[in-house]
This record gives sequence, C-alpha cells and structure tokens, in this order.
Amino acid sequence: MTAPLILGIETSCDETGVAVLEGFNVRSFVLASQTEEHARFGGVVPEVAARAHVEAIRPLVHQALASAGVHPDQLDAVAATRGPGLIGALMVGYAFAKSLAWTLGKPLYGIDHMEGHLYAPRLEFEEYRPPAIVLLASGGHSQIIHVREWGDYETLGTTIDDAAGEAFDKLARFLGLGYPGGPVIDAESEHGDPKAVAFPRALRDRPFDFSFSGLKTSVITYLEKAKVDGTLPPRADVAASIQEAIVDVLVEKTFNAVEETGVNAVGGGGGVLANRRLRSRLREEADRRGVDLFIPSIEMCTDNGAMVAAVAVDRLSNGAPPDDWGADVDPSMRLGS
Ligand code: KG4
Ligand code: ZN
Repeated sequence: MTAPLILGIETSCDETGVAVLEGFNVRSFVLASQTEEHARFGGVVPEVAARAHVEAIRPLVHQALASAGVHPDQLDAVAATRGPGLIGALMVGYAFAKSLAWTLGKPLYGIDHMEGHLYAPRLEFEEYRPPAIVLLASGGHSQIIHVREWGDYETLGTTIDDAAGEAFDKLARFLGLGYPGGPVIDAESEHGDPKAVAFPRALRDRPFDFSFSGLKTSVITYLEKAKVDGTLPPRADVAASIQEAIVDVLVEKTFNAVEETGVNAVGGGGGVLANRRLRSRLREEADRRGVDLFIPSIEMCTDNGAMVAAVAVDRLSNGAPPDDWGADVDPSMRLGS
C-alpha cells in the first residue's frame, strides 16, 4: 500500500492545528494560535477558544490542503481530536472533520489528543518505536506511559493533582509574568540561579507519580515570608528555582520508569517538553545512561494537527474501524481506555 494521505485537525484547547501527512511525512503544517485572545484574561476562556476555532478552521484546512498540493478527493482519511479537552473547542474540530469526511465519502478517525502527543516523535525520528517510556506533560496532563506496542499503553504514573503545565501557568501568573506560563518561566529562568531557592520535590516515595499543587503553596509561602524579611531574591532566581523543581521530578520519574522496565528508549510530548531546561536535563540523563532519546522539535511538542494525523496513519494501515457517523467528542477521554 502506498503511504496514505491524511488530513489532521486539532482543536482541543487554544491552538487550531491542521496538517496533511503522507504516511509519516509532513506535507503541510499550519497553526492559528489564540494566545493573544486569552492573554488579557490570564488563561484560556473556553467560549473564546471555541469561537476562535470556528473562525480559523475553514481557512486553515484550505491552506493546509493547498500548501500540500492535495485535493480533498485525494485524501484517504480525515482525523480529528475527539478528546480530552474543552468540549466546545473539541466540537468545532471534530464536527468539521466529520462533515468533511462524510461529504467526501472518506473514513473519519477520532483521535485521543494524548496519543497524538505520544506519536509526535514518530514524525521526526524514524528509529522511535516501542518499547519506549514516554513522558507526556501538557497543560492538562502529566503522565509516564510505557508504550509496549503502538496502541498498547500502560500508564505507569500520573499526577495526583495539577499537571506540570498547569503548575507553570499558575506560578507564572502568581509571579506576575503573564500567560502562557511555561514559555515565560522558561525565558525568565535563563538568567536565574536554579539553586537559589530549594523548593520541595513532592511524592519522592511514589516512583512514577507527580504532585505539583504543594509546590504552588510553598512558593506562595516562601515569597510572602521573604517579602516580610526583606530577603526576596531576584525574580529570575525564583523562576529558575521553580522550573528546576518541576524539571527535577519529571526527569527523575521518567528514568525511574526506564529502570523499572529495562526499556532503552525515551520519548516525550506535550507543551511542557518545549521547556529548554527539561530538554537538556533529559538529554544529559539519557546520554549518561546510554538510552535513546526522542524529543520532537518545539513546534511538534505543542499542540498541532500533524500528531493527530500520525495516529490515524497507523489506524488506517492496520485496518482499524473508523468512527461511527453518530460518534461524538469525549472531553474526558483517557489514554488506553
Ligand atoms: O500540549 P499543550 O500545547 O496543550 C495542552 O494539551 O494542554 O501544552 C500547553 C502547556 C501549557 O501549560 C504551557 O504553559 C506549557 O505547555 N508550555 C511550557 C513551555 N511551552 C509550553 N512549559 C514549560 N516550558 C515551556 N517552554
Ligand atoms: Zn496538548
């Protein structure tokens, strides 16, 4: 079989992402970010997100097909994120994909957003394959997944409260750094000392699970006390110390999973994997242990349509049944269930 042509649509949160793949080859990749629309509210507003997806989706699909040089009739399938995510945002992308697939007479594949993140390295590394340990860290999720086979996922660890991205976002807001938090803390940390403040590393006794809500409390308590004592360090030092506390546990627990399973490959996906400190710490640790590391480029770590289409490439190739025309979005979809 020749490599299938697949249109992928992602609208689970605040990016409208559309791409055309030919097998795992990216033919086009377009994105409309809503960061500016949400920035004045200090976070993603679900209704604003859905409305912005409605406006962006048609021109973006058009643009993705045109720049790939693909006519809609040539597509082998249409894929869209079915969950998890914001219900209104998901509905826009999934309903658009469904109507397009139906009118074209092509199969529709509804994709788990987190499985999309898990597939993203496959678009850039031919050697990325199971078994692998994959760190997924985004605004809504933090998970360590043992990929036994494509489609066969064991969740080894997860967060018991906030996701890693959520911790970045909340703490950035608290520091007055704005939104989205991850990139601004990443930038602010560049000139800061990661050892300036020793914030706690939570759940040391649970090898694969995360907890980030305690960090928030300890940062707030620390800053309030430092202000009273007149010992407030530069903001860059606080940012770098927060980042280090989050990165430390993500790296430690990922490699705990490597040790436990004996797996020799580590992948990563989700917006937090765009973090420069996290990327370099994972690289150091992988090199030290002689483990292969597959962390995609920054634009492939954050939400996009190509990762969604990538999952559908396998679905279609394996003869998996497409979605029923009556299927709907599932905002609380869980990987592997
Ligand atoms: O995967 P993603 O683009 O969207 C969701 O599925 O949630 O992840 C977004 C999250 C946000 O919390 C954002 O602050 C975080 O990823 N993020 C980062 C960085 N870039 C994005 N976190 C840390 N450092 C970054 N450079
Ligand atoms: Zn995501």
